[in-house]
Amino acid sequence: MPLHLRRERAALRNREIPKLAWSTSSTDNSMPDLIQRPRRLRRSENLRALVRETRLSADDFVLPLFACSGKGVRREISSMPEVHNLSVDEIAREAAEAEETGIKAVMLFGLPESKDEDASGAYHKNGIVQQAVRAIREAVPRMTIMTDTCLCEYTSHGHCGVVRDGEVINDESLELLARTAVSQAAAGADVVAPSAMMDGQVAAIREALDDAGFDQVAILAYAVKYASAFYGPFREAADSAPAFGDRRAYQMDPPNVREAMREAELDEMEGADMLMVKPATVYLDVLAAVRERFDLPVAAYHVSGEYAMLKAAAQNGWIDEQRAMMETLTSIKRAGADIIITYFAREAARALRTH
Ligand code: PBG
Repeated sequence: MPLHLRRERAALRNREIPKLAWSTSSTDNSMPDLIQRPRRLRRSENLRALVRETRLSADDFVLPLFACSGKGVRREISSMPEVHNLSVDEIAREAAEAEETGIKAVMLFGLPESKDEDASGAYHKNGIVQQAVRAIREAVPRMTIMTDTCLCEYTSHGHCGVVRDGEVINDESLELLARTAVSQAAAGADVVAPSAMMDGQVAAIREALDDAGFDQVAILAYAVKYASAFYGPFREAADSAPAFGDRRAYQMDPPNVREAMREAELDEMEGADMLMVKPATVYLDVLAAVRERFDLPVAAYHVSGEYAMLKAAAQNGWIDEQRAMMETLTSIKRAGADIIITYFAREAARALRTH
């Protein structure tokens, strides 16, 4: 919550609120003369706009994009209407179109042609994400390019780190994550976003980036990432479902919020420039707590399952898609997010323009 809001809240709490919010001078006791009538400020759209506390802007949004091999490929993801796997030429076009709607940042994921135990596609000079970064940089030079730094899309087993005897090994994974971040930076990424939930990943990446001369490349840390059922559609989009087990031994346990503070604090100490909470809507309490406690910019990831639920309900005619979308994104901002990563970025940016 911004400081001025916090102050206002505190002042309100300390103020004496009159017991009766209506005048007792009236002779007719059954119909009190109300002094406070909050409805006065809701009477017209212009009045509501004047007193609105939270405003969305296209500046807030980051659009996730999925790069795949080939040419002219636009493959829609069945559980995520209007989201596609895009070949490098198409992804550059998509980024250019996004820019026209006012979007200033994208987050890239990759589907490599082949996968192996060492996730070599993640840090290959000509890996799919590295190619996509270069193509977008050329087509839309001012676009802020963020890359998801993880191994799960590139490992044959689909886990986010190196696996030995059925276990994801933390420290060996750090080296590969650092290599991935450096190669993404070398391709031209402005921001790397480590999402593997390995302990010490931010420190390892910061050090490797600095050693390679990329001290200006920022880190958006997926600091608070829960082991969530809401990543389901993404795993279809990125072909990254784990072949065995699940991610609960490294991603966070959903009931925990004190632990979230600890994760965020560690990432801040390790050199993160921005902190992320993920998913967004089912963790708005966590988002608000991180906002309250930390002064770094805070991002929230409105994930694939959260998107898919709204799309599915809208397709059935059960909710008004545009209103539900704007209400959802507003709730994320109101809870304290400075940055919203969302598959709705284009639609929301368009809706804001026509307002
Ligand atoms: C990679 C990663 C995932 C998401 C973002 N980065 C998947 C996962 O952790 O399983 C999920 C994004 C979404 O659901 O939209 N580790």
